[in-house]
Formats: sequence, C-alpha cells, structure tokens
Amino acid sequence: MKADYINDVEKVLCSEETICATVKGLGDTISADYKDKDLVLVGLLKGSVVFISDLMRAITIPCDIDFMDVSSYGASTVSSGVVNIIKDLNDSIEGRDVLIVEDILDSGRTLSKVVNILKERSPASIKVCTFLDKPEGRQVEFEADYVGCIIPDEFVIGYGLDYNECYRNLPFVGVLKRSVY
Ligand code: IMP
Ligand code: MG
Repeated sequence: MKADYINDVEKVLCSEETICATVKGLGDTISADYKDKDLVLVGLLKGSVVFISDLMRAITIPCDIDFMDVSSYGASTVSSGVVNIIKDLNDSIEGRDVLIVEDILDSGRTLSKVVNILKERSPASIKVCTFLDKPEGRQVEFEADYVGCIIPDEFVIGYGLDYNECYRNLPFVGVLKRSVY
C-alpha cells in the first residue's frame, strides 16, 4: 500500500520551527562542551541522517563525521532486542571524542549496545546525543547526554524516522495514525 504522506499523520509533535530552535540549542551546547576536543560525530543509519546534517551545521567547532548501521526494528514497530552491525565505522576512533548521534532513544537497547561496542575501541570519551527521547519505552537503563525533545510513548515518523522505510523526508516529527500499521 502506498503511503499517503500528510493524511497518514495523526498529529505533529515537533514542528519545523521547534526542530530548528532545538538543534540550534544542542549545537551551541556541544560546541562549548567540545571546544579543544577531537570531536567525531557517529551517526546511526538511516534514522539519524536528517538530524546529523542539521546538527553538524549548528556546531561551530571543527568536527569529523562517520556512520554506523545497526539493525533494530526491521519492518515492525516493536523492538526485537537484537542488535547487529550491518555497516561499521570507516575510521578508527582511538583517542578521539566520540559523540553518537541518534534519531530516537526508546527501549535503550540499540544505544547501550552501540556504546559498549565503541567503548572497546579506546575512544578518549564517548557520549550520546539523541534528537528524541521516549523515556516510557525504556527496557534497559540508559540516559543520553544530550536530548532534543522528550516525547510520549507513541510511534512517530518524520525528520529521519520511518515506518517501513516511509516518511523519513517529512520535515517535522508526527504521530502515525494507528490505522496505518
Ligand atoms: P531502541 O533500541 O528501542 O532504543 O530503539 C531505537 C531505534 O528504534 C531507533 O533508532 C529507531 O530506528 C527505532 N524507533 C524507536 N521508536 C521509534 C518510533 O517511534 N518511530 C520510528 N522508529 C523508532
Ligand atoms: Mg535508528
């Protein structure tokens, strides 16, 4: 079935204006915190691409960028709990200040596993920045260091987030109508 982009959205949770202001705030904070550090942003594919491209332009200090792809939900809306590396980083992170950039923190499984994997590679530091946080979805103990917006436990799409690989290019974050999935 073809997605009916705008009509499939129940309500908007984060407007383009809210996103813009939030990312600017995160960029300012990160720029101050990482002044004189060797910052490398590690984006988790594919969901983080929209956020990371805005965030890196809101960061006013030099930074490098790399990507990793790990499996999480597949085509379902419920976390499987299994995390596999599909695409690893291109470069070494040894001695560098790693900031993992993610679209959403839900159960916490993906990020806690990725942090553990990357910690083994001797970075100077490792922190996490997530655009969205759904604290009610947490299944494992995990807190991000930088959070854009805290949202209720609803399935959201847009600003990089998908349902069945659809809706990633919506410029806002919205709740998907229950009738769609
Ligand atoms: P976690 O491992 O449960 O924290 O899930 C994190 C991953 O699940 C994210 O990177 C997303 O790809 C996906 N995810 C979690 N909640 C949502 C949602 O509401 N919409 C779309 N994807 C989601
Ligand atoms: Mg993801």
